[in-house]
Amino acid sequence: MENETIFVREVKREDIPTVVEINRRALPENYSIDYFYYHLEEFPDLFLVGIVKRDDLEYIAGYSMSRIEFGFSNFGLSLVKKGHLISIAVLDQFRRKGIASSLIKTTIERLTKKKVNEFYLEVRVTNYPAISLYKKFNFVVTNKIPSYYSDGEDAYVMTVKLR
Ligand SMILES: CC(C)(COP(=O)(O)OP(=O)(O)OC[C@H]1O[C@@H](n2cnc3c(N)ncnc32)[C@H](O)[C@@H]1OP(=O)(O)O)[C@@H](O)C(=O)NCCC(=O)NCCS
Repeated sequence: MENETIFVREVKREDIPTVVEINRRALPENYSIDYFYYHLEEFPDLFLVGIVKRDDLEYIAGYSMSRIEFGFSNFGLSLVKKGHLISIAVLDQFRRKGIASSLIKTTIERLTKKKVNEFYLEVRVTNYPAISLYKKFNFVVTNKIPSYYSDGEDAYVMTVKLR
């Protein structure tokens, strides 16, 4: 499309209702609005939105929300600093434009600067679009959790080593 640009920025407090709406439309895993506000307060630089700008109009097309945790490595027994991708979604009409990739790329750059060792996420074993997206960023399956989702579907844990 002409005059269309895409960029990523940190979420703002006033974006949260739109982010909640995108989450509800794109994913069966819906969180309370307070859960989003919590991540905005605690990890503001890891809570990003993807913006599509057409002429002078800006649309929030997607978001990604990540946090930092401490725990055992997904690759072994050492204690490490881990990034955890809690949720990512892009509205249907804005998909395949590289928005999710930009969100993940920016998050990985930020985690790397914070000396985070690895970045992981859970994904439905049948969510092929998301799994291929994560493979592009070198995530590999490190675990499988039976019946992780409320409808009984299994999850893959996918992890990428950052340092
Ligand atoms: C998964 C999702 C976030 C991808 O968002 P997106 O902005 O369309 O992704 P990108 O445009 O950055 O795609 C990057 C790569 O991911 C893979 N991919 C994305 N959508 C795909 C699809 N429908 N089928 C196959 N591969 C796909 C491709 O490898 C793609 O690269 P390409 O376009 O060069 O082929 C989006 O489809 C979505 O919101 N899905 C519903 C919510 C969801 O499943 N979230 C993940 C939960 S773990």
